[in-house]
Amino acid sequence: MRKNKVILIGNLKQNPKTLKEALTLSEFYIKLKKTYKNLELGISLPYVFLHEVNKKYSKSLNIYAQNISAYPDGAHTGEVGAIQIKSLKIKGSIIGHSETRANGDTNETIQKKVTEALKNNLQIILCVGEKERKDNGDYVNEINTQIESALLYVKKAETKNITIVYEPVWAIGEKAVRNANQDEIYEITIIIRKKLFEMFGKSVGEKINIMYGGSVNSKNINSLSEIKPVNGFLLGRTSLDTKELKLIAETLNNI
Ligand code: PGA
Repeated sequence: MRKNKVILIGNLKQNPKTLKEALTLSEFYIKLKKTYKNLELGISLPYVFLHEVNKKYSKSLNIYAQNISAYPDGAHTGEVGAIQIKSLKIKGSIIGHSETRANGDTNETIQKKVTEALKNNLQIILCVGEKERKDNGDYVNEINTQIESALLYVKKAETKNITIVYEPVWAIGEKAVRNANQDEIYEITIIIRKKLFEMFGKSVGEKINIMYGGSVNSKNINSLSEIKPVNGFLLGRTSLDTKELKLIAETLNNI
């Protein structure tokens, strides 16, 4: 068995349709947490449901936003700032998900979001990953640049609030080209770890958790769970499917 709990976070994206469903789903996550004690379970909800779910369940579940503004406050229609998230006592937020990158988040924007989040003592689930994987190895530079840029102003002491998720864009969602295999994921977690050592030193860098996300389901979780340097998983589609969730949690709980 592993020394540390395996992290499992559901990213609900623009789901579910109602607050009632969001509450019911969160209750299911709590049930899983009580059953599978080797897991560190979390859920990342749309803003509209965050306050209510957090008010009810923050003591039983790790609850996260899906994004935050790059700005502290002001004239940014539609944005929600880290200070606002903090004021509701929400634990943290995903930052740099490929879907927000596709909607205009640059490495520079993500760097600002990271700074805002850390200023407000929020936990960050930082997503990185290459758009496509070509044989020329460009993806290594792409990922190193994403990490270097996002964490450029992060102090060693602040890294306790950071978790990194490797999410190859080509392996995410319904448009996925294919699943990432063990070797590909292993390679990148090592590259990420090396970069973290370089930036923060070995003793600090080795404490930062690295997760994987991209088409994780009950069929591939066994194989994915064998990749030892991976500390947890971020779920997209399967985060909404209670049958899948249970199977994934069960498998991870027993590794
Ligand atoms: P997926 O999404 O599990 O549906 O591929 C993962 C993600 O976008 O985080």
